[in-house]
Amino acid sequence: MASTRASFYALLSVICSVFILLHPCEAQELGSCKLDSVYQLGDSTSDTGNLIHESLIGAASPCSHPPYGQDFPGGQATGRCSNGFLMIDYLSRAAGVPFPDYYLNQSAAFTRGHGVNFAVAGATALPSDVLDQMNISNPSTNSSLSTQLDWMFSYFNGICFDKADCLWKLKDALFMVGEIGGSDYYYALFQGKSIEEAKSLVPQVVMAIKDAVQRVIGYGASRVVVPGSFPIGCFPVYLARFKTNHPSAYDESRCLKGLNGLAAYHNILLRRVIGELREENRDVIILYGDYYNAFASMYRGGPNLGFDMVRAQKACCGMGGGDYNFDPNRRCGAPGVAVCPHPTKAMSWDGIQMTQRAYFVMTNWLIRDLWPKLNCNASLIGN
Ligand SMILES: *[C@@H]1O[C@H](CO)[C@@H](O)[C@H](O)[C@H]1NC(C)=O
Ligand SMILES: *[C@@H]1O[C@H](CO)[C@@H](O)[C@H](O)[C@H]1NC(C)=O
Ligand SMILES: *[C@@H]1O[C@H](CO)[C@@H](O)[C@H](O)[C@H]1NC(C)=O
Ligand SMILES: *[C@@H]1O[C@H](CO)[C@@H](O)[C@H](O)[C@H]1NC(C)=O
Repeated sequence: MASTRASFYALLSVICSVFILLHPCEAQELGSCKLDSVYQLGDSTSDTGNLIHESLIGAASPCSHPPYGQDFPGGQATGRCSNGFLMIDYLSRAAGVPFPDYYLNQSAAFTRGHGVNFAVAGATALPSDVLDQMNISNPSTNSSLSTQLDWMFSYFNGICFDKADCLWKLKDALFMVGEIGGSDYYYALFQGKSIEEAKSLVPQVVMAIKDAVQRVIGYGASRVVVPGSFPIGCFPVYLARFKTNHPSAYDESRCLKGLNGLAAYHNILLRRVIGELREENRDVIILYGDYYNAFASMYRGGPNLGFDMVRAQKACCGMGGGDYNFDPNRRCGAPGVAVCPHPTKAMSWDGIQMTQRAYFVMTNWLIRDLWPKLNCNASLIGN
């Protein structure tokens, strides 16, 4: 573990010093917030080990074996669905707190109070039984948002004497409620639903996220970030599946307009409920995590950030060549599927998840966007 962290710091400082001219590292700024822990709910964007330790189905996930994790210290496949670190890792590092252990790590010394990661790859915002009613199934996990909140509840129940004690223990904690909901739309769209049908799920998905924020506030959270959806119409998995000969289906970045419209609609409704949550919880800081624009900004700035834009819509780890290098029958992790020679120049890792380089760039953008609003100087307790 020590050597893992040491090489991580080394890696980060190399990236920072190479990059400082173009893209100053924000670690110091977030560090001034004096956060002491990060708690995460979510899906494969943030899972650092839960899915692959959850069940036999989870253990068989491609994220459990190489080339996943090939650029993680020691080349370990930890269950992170990327070639290396995720945004939660970079965010924790910038905040100056250790990486939160994944919840299902039985040996974790959770009482240290450095936060816990409850995210499960493939998790949906809506519970499986609700999705079942719409004939949408989740083949990888039943640990939806409400299950993760139950885990969180029992965790806090174990470390706090009562609500006041939890408020005190969590006064310097940051809660990340998402990204979540992407898997709901993914399963719907890949199980034959139209974009319009997927859109009809949005109000329920957003309501589930609102309930989740209300629950974490009930546990004692005073700083909550609620990330929105990525522009999924720019992701190879969707570009390959919904490829069409109609030029009007694409925007000027060659992304699918309809799918980006779905993501944008989710984000509009999400921002609306965040507004309501703020009204209802005036002593809590609740921020929108603008993953859509973090991605869009990286995409626009691509060449200056060192990305090879010829590969911007191609999976780095994948097969099939062509515009997207994505073949659903020969995905990353399957025998013989190759990894691109320079993952640091690629945005998409496996067609669905992004590379650690992309996550690093987007985390910096997010910290710049969020830090001024986190109100780090204010004492939130006792006012
Ligand atoms: C599980 O928790 C232990 C104790 O905190 C830690 O040393 C170990 O690295 C964790 N395992 C993983 C895979 O993160
Ligand atoms: C989800 O739960 C159902 C019912 O308990 C079970 O049959 C199914 O195998 C579970 N799915 C996964 C991926 O664990
Ligand atoms: C449910 O979805 C499957 C495909 O995933 C389809 O074959 C079946 O007809 C659907 N059933 C209903 C009731 O819509
Ligand atoms: C907030 O803290 C920073 C340093 O941590 C300081 O430079 C700044 O002046 C403070 N702002 C206010 C309003 O106190």
